[in-house]
Amino acid sequence: MILDGKILSDTIKDNLKEEINTLLKKDIRPGLGVILVGENIESKTYVNMKKKACNELGIYSKVYELPDNISEDIIIQKIKDLNEDNTIHGILVQLPLPYHINKQNVLDSIKHEKDVDGLGILNTGKLMINNNVNIMPCTPRGCIELLDHYKIPLKSKEITIIGTSNLVGLPLSIMLLHRGATVTLCNIHTNDVRKKTKDADIVIACCGVPEMVKSDWVKEESIIIDIGINKIEDKKSKKGYRLVGDVDYNNVKDKVEYITPVPGGIGPMTIAILMKQTVEICRLINISKM
Ligand code: GUN
Repeated sequence: MILDGKILSDTIKDNLKEEINTLLKKDIRPGLGVILVGENIESKTYVNMKKKACNELGIYSKVYELPDNISEDIIIQKIKDLNEDNTIHGILVQLPLPYHINKQNVLDSIKHEKDVDGLGILNTGKLMINNNVNIMPCTPRGCIELLDHYKIPLKSKEITIIGTSNLVGLPLSIMLLHRGATVTLCNIHTNDVRKKTKDADIVIACCGVPEMVKSDWVKEESIIIDIGINKIEDKKSKKGYRLVGDVDYNNVKDKVEYITPVPGGIGPMTIAILMKQTVEICRLINISKM
């Protein structure tokens, strides 16, 4: 059975629309500031999708598009402007950044209250020790909300995650640990990844390797979350490519209980959660006016 992230993300956005209308009546409009550096086509596509979601919901958005050769100081200056901008409640820096930029310096210059992706050091620390957490990285929160929506228990489950990025695998592992799961994290040095996925109740693939997880990597009736979005050549398609996940969907789907499709699984959930966290931060910042 499919874990349908598209349907759930639409429901989340519909609920947000109502909430935003209530805020607008009080003269409060949630705002999202986005920094996009360079010409990475995928990053541009993601930022356009985020901007479009803001427009659909009535969230104000401001996007700074900066060239590849920009200095770290100028990026940080733009963030400081957004930190002080009362029309902006959430700030995100689209990743990856060019190699000459120290990513964590940039992320840590976002005021922690406005750090809508939860990637700054303070929000990362709060998540780590499960203390006063109100902002989480959007993709991990999207995965957990999707699993919760389908009432999939996490407590005492064996979960294997392939991929340990600060954006997805690492924070997701911590969130799942806090929900009582036993988590195995695989990285590029893991000797036999298949051995770790074969016995898992839930497999989460976020490694960026197209269709890596095959049916003999997973247990019957297990649950598969595919976070990868990879372009692979497809001469039959008009565009010359198609999108696939880190799981070989057609090969795996009949063996498992639940699986997320690509596209239409975790991708739309990430955007819906970004919108939700922007509104949540806006409410927190304006709590005295509510
Ligand atoms: N690059 C790819 N996904 C994401 C995301 O969710 N947030 C940010 N900031 N950058 C990304």
